[in-house]
Parts: sequence; structure tokens; C-alpha cells
Amino acid sequence: MPTHEEPVLQMQDVSMEYKGESPCLALDKVNLKIFPGELISIAGPSGSGKSTMLHMLGCLDKPTGGEIFLDGRPVSRMNDNELADARLYKIGFVAQAFNLAPTLDVFKNVELPLIIREVEAKARKKIVEKNLSVVDLSDKARSMPSQLSGGQKQRVAIARALVNEPKILLADEPTGNLDSKSGADIIRFIIDLCKSRGITVIFVTHDTKIATQTNRIIRMLDGRIESDVQNKRKEGGG
Ligand SMILES: Nc1ncnc2c1ncn2[C@@H]1O[C@H](COP(=O)(O)OP(=O)(O)OP(=O)(O)O)[C@@H](O)[C@H]1O
Ligand SMILES: [Mg+2]
Repeated sequence: MPTHEEPVLQMQDVSMEYKGESPCLALDKVNLKIFPGELISIAGPSGSGKSTMLHMLGCLDKPTGGEIFLDGRPVSRMNDNELADARLYKIGFVAQAFNLAPTLDVFKNVELPLIIREVEAKARKKIVEKNLSVVDLSDKARSMPSQLSGGQKQRVAIARALVNEPKILLADEPTGNLDSKSGADIIRFIIDLCKSRGITVIFVTHDTKIATQTNRIIRMLDGRIESDVQNKRKEGGG
């Protein structure tokens, strides 16, 4: 792990307690540093806090305890505009259910973050086309999400997460709903992104074979980090 660099994301004693009828401590004082360009997988049983952790890292939810730092800045002290900017520019998020807008075609789904950013139409078209070609879906630009396979939907969600060129990509079980071949394709694609664009990538996976393709494997158990290891085998293989 490159210790000379500052972390892009850091969790300091981060807890998340869901209140309500059945309160649940989903994260229990988690400490974590993520450095630029790392390729990390998060593993662990269902309910162990993986999605909760990813949401916290993506600044999508506020923890009930502790602090998260994005580029060294405490997220709890950001105002709504700064938070919106962080989500729009710094972090690309691919949710566990891809969350595509069902009434918009593929092109328009990918275009959405650019419209929010008020990028002009001609530039939007260029960026969307480029990103659709990156995920190899240029021929599906005018398809509706309902007409796509699971793997294709997943790739649309990734293209959408990438249009604003974030430095960090977070993906919650990007292969969860896919057969092993499509899953392997998506993972190879994400790993290439990390290498070619220097993006910091963190994704959740249940699949040990996939986890071993990353440089660092974090295992969650009962809201805590059970283990956090550099994957030597992978690093040795380049
Ligand atoms: N909105 C919520 N309200 C109450 N409890 C919640 C909420 N979201 C998650 N939890 C609880 O927090 C714990 C962690 O959930 P989380 O979704 O982070 O698990 P996970 O590791 O992603 O599981 P999976 O592999 O099934 O996706 C679980 O016990 C879950 O029931
Ligand atoms: Mg989950």
C-alpha cells in the first residue's frame, strides 16, 4: 500500500445504527484508509454491512458515529452543495440494483448526470457516445433498459457512473445478478478501468474467485472489518 500518499477516502471510527422497530448496528466503529488508484474488493456474508459501508464511502448516507474524510476533508462538515458536487464529480456509484430510469433509453440514462451538470447538448452527445463505446454498448443506445440483459444493464450503470470522470468508482455487487461469464467480463472491464484511468475502484462481491483478482481484499463480519489484506498473489502477477 502506498503510504506516502494521502488517502482519497478514510473512515474514522465510523458507525451506522439503523434506528426504528428493529434497531441494527450495521457498522461498528470501522477504521479504513483507501489510497489513490487502489483496486479493492469487499467480501463478507449477507447482512455484514458491505452495502452500508459502500454507501458511507460514497457520501450517500451519513454515519451515526465517527467521521468520513474525502480527499482529507470531513464529509460531515460539507454543506449540501459540496456533498452534491462530491457525488456528481468525485465519486461514481453503481448500486446493487442498477437503478436505471425505466422510461429512458440507454443513451438518456447515461446522459442524465451530464444534464444535471448542465453540459451543453453537443458535448453531452460526444461524452455519452464515448462512454457507451467503452462499455461496448454503442449499438444499444436507443434500447430501453427492459430490453437489455442483466450484464448490459450493469454496463449502462457503469457508463453512467463514469461520464463525469470520477476519481473513485464504487460498485455494489456488479456481478450479483449475472452468470459467471458475464460477471467475469464486467470485472475484467472494471479492472481495466482502474489500470487505464488510474481510478480508485472499490466493489462488493460474494465471489472469492473475483475477489482474488483485486489488490486488496476487505472482509466484513457483523459490521466490522474482519480482515483487510493485500493480495500478494495478484500484486506479484502485475
Ligand atoms: N434501511 C435499513 N433499515 C434498517 N436496517 C437496515 C437498513 N439497511 C440495512 N439494514 C441492516 O443493516 C445490516 C447490514 O446491511 P447491509 O445492506 O449493509 O448488508 P450487506 O453486507 O450489504 O448484505 P448483502 O450481501 O445481503 O447485500 C443488516 O442487518 C440489515 O438488515
Ligand atoms: Mg448489500
